[in-house]
Amino acid sequence: MKRPHVLMISEITTDGKLTLGKGVSSKVLMKYMSHEAEVMLHQTRAEYDAIMVGSNTIKIDNSNLTVRLAEGKSPLRVIPNAAADLSPDSNVFNVQNAPTILAVTKKAPEERLILFREKGVSVVFAGEEKIDFPLLMDILVREFGVKSLIIEGGPTLNWFMLHHRLVDEIRLIHMPFIVGGADTPSLVGGEHLGSENDMIKLDLKGTKMAGDNLITEYSVRY
Ligand SMILES: NC(=O)c1ccc[n+]([C@@H]2O[C@H](COP(=O)([O-])OP(=O)(O)OC[C@H]3O[C@@H](n4cnc5c(N)ncnc54)[C@H](OP(=O)(O)O)[C@@H]3O)[C@@H](O)[C@H]2O)c1
Repeated sequence: MKRPHVLMISEITTDGKLTLGKGVSSKVLMKYMSHEAEVMLHQTRAEYDAIMVGSNTIKIDNSNLTVRLAEGKSPLRVIPNAAADLSPDSNVFNVQNAPTILAVTKKAPEERLILFREKGVSVVFAGEEKIDFPLLMDILVREFGVKSLIIEGGPTLNWFMLHHRLVDEIRLIHMPFIVGGADTPSLVGGEHLGSENDMIKLDLKGTKMAGDNLITEYSVRY
């Protein structure tokens, strides 16, 4: 199976959290990101063919995933949502701003798919019950010519992509705050490790500053 080059990018607090609490939009934390880091985020989006976030992030953040603070084209937006139960009125399905793919499985009711197709959203089937991420990557390469993909969370999507060994690089935008909360989303959710051998090892490639935010860049070693 083919797959694009994948970069995971995230803002993250000093205690590894992605938001201020469970169910809270990451847009609250993003308000505190430096302008330079926001511009870098948008420049990165413009450099990539496609961008993917999880369906729960769409529900909570109502993300646009477009390029607004830099020159360049908005990437193809990809939303994995097995049952097609997201609202078709979510910002990301406004294809006037950028094209969007909704990835579903065979369990998605046809009447739901019609609502998305009527809006100009491309619907692709990737799995029987749950989204099959390796298959989705293959479809993106073969049918849409996607060579490079950014994933911007949330933690559940990040976990599935790492679990299937589909991530090449990780870039973190460090926010100098501690928010706490045992159930506050952190960079990677999903399941616990089976043993220490299952730890995913990273190589630090570089660090830089974007305004007052430290940026760290890693490559993933499988
Ligand atoms: N700080 C940041 O940079 C940042 C960025 C993004 C998001 N966030 C925050 O993250 C939170 C949301 O994260 P989240 O972890 O709850 O959700 P999420 O990662 O946004 O969405 C979960 C994704 O996993 C899929 N999924 C769930 N179970 C699956 C399975 N068994 N097999 C295959 N796919 C499966 C879901 O698809 P289905 O629809 O098919 O179930 C969905 O697409 C929000 O609070 C948001 O603000 C923060």
